[in-house]
Amino acid sequence: MNNNLANIKKSISFLNKDDCVAIPTETVYGLAANAYSSKAVRKIYTLKRRPINNPSIIHYSSLNQLEKDCELNKNFFKLYKKFCPGPITFVLKLKKESRISKIATNNKKTVAIRFPKNKITQKLLKILNYPLAAPSANISTKISPVSASDVKEEFGNKIKFILNGGRSKIGLESTIISLIDKPRILRLGGIERTKINKVLNKNIKYDKTNKKISVPGQSKLHYSPGIPIKLNIIKPKPNEAFILIKKRKKSYKNYYYLTKNKNLKQAAKNLYRILRVIKKKNYKRIVVEKIPNNGFGETINDRLKRASTK
Ligand code: TXA
Ligand code: MG
Repeated sequence: MNNNLANIKKSISFLNKDDCVAIPTETVYGLAANAYSSKAVRKIYTLKRRPINNPSIIHYSSLNQLEKDCELNKNFFKLYKKFCPGPITFVLKLKKESRISKIATNNKKTVAIRFPKNKITQKLLKILNYPLAAPSANISTKISPVSASDVKEEFGNKIKFILNGGRSKIGLESTIISLIDKPRILRLGGIERTKINKVLNKNIKYDKTNKKISVPGQSKLHYSPGIPIKLNIIKPKPNEAFILIKKRKKSYKNYYYLTKNKNLKQAAKNLYRILRVIKKKNYKRIVVEKIPNNGFGETINDRLKRASTK
């Protein structure tokens, strides 16, 4: 614990100097900077090689602070009560008087915000007097990091500080829901769609083809391990890594299991970690067996499809 506090203090000293720090969250690690400082936010985009037109998620620990930056509505409060802090991101109307950097929002009238659940990051946010802009802490289009060592692998010595908060419990990104006008899901993620439907008492659409709002993760190559991926495969070739949903009795060196028992939440947690393990070996291709498309299976299939887009 003392160690954590010392590291939180170290993070603060970097953040206060407009530098970036990697922070742990329950979904994936984020590359964070003062959301009110364009100088700081610009550094995130340079480090990540992120296109400037892709806005960042802003991370908060209190509603009081959030209220200064955006308009909160009924649907927001319903979902906030049920899921926050947790793996859900809301797109809301930005307030005119908001101090959030226009670089972080790409000059939009809306902003994506979330309340992360990791204790260390919550403590950090509580001490700071500004929220943190933080996209996932990976080079743009690559696999998101789920541990401090994954972040180190992405950025090497280019990153000034990584706040270690252990392995991410969810293991893939937050669900993004737009609450501007009619609620729409913009990215599948850490909260299942059916749970959101239940709270809002209607069937919320997953808007994967929306062109008006730029969510680059929706179309082009993303979450890529840098090796071709093929889905719905029954049997692999010897030079292919084979990802299976459930452990088999007979095992081979190139078999990688997402779970012991087919639990889809567990599978989601293991996906990026396993892709990263495979990436370091010399396989020609990654092939994946058919993954059930219910619950977190839908999110897993979504990520695999995007990772396999050429
Ligand atoms: O779990 C997560 O959400 C992680 C952790 C670090 O919080 N963050 C994350 O950030 O996945 P990133 O930048 O990799 O993905 C954020 C997505 C992007 O696809 C971006 O286009 C979208 O959020 N986004 C940001 N602002 C938006 C807005 N105003 N309207 C619609 N989409 C927005
Ligand atoms: Mg990302």
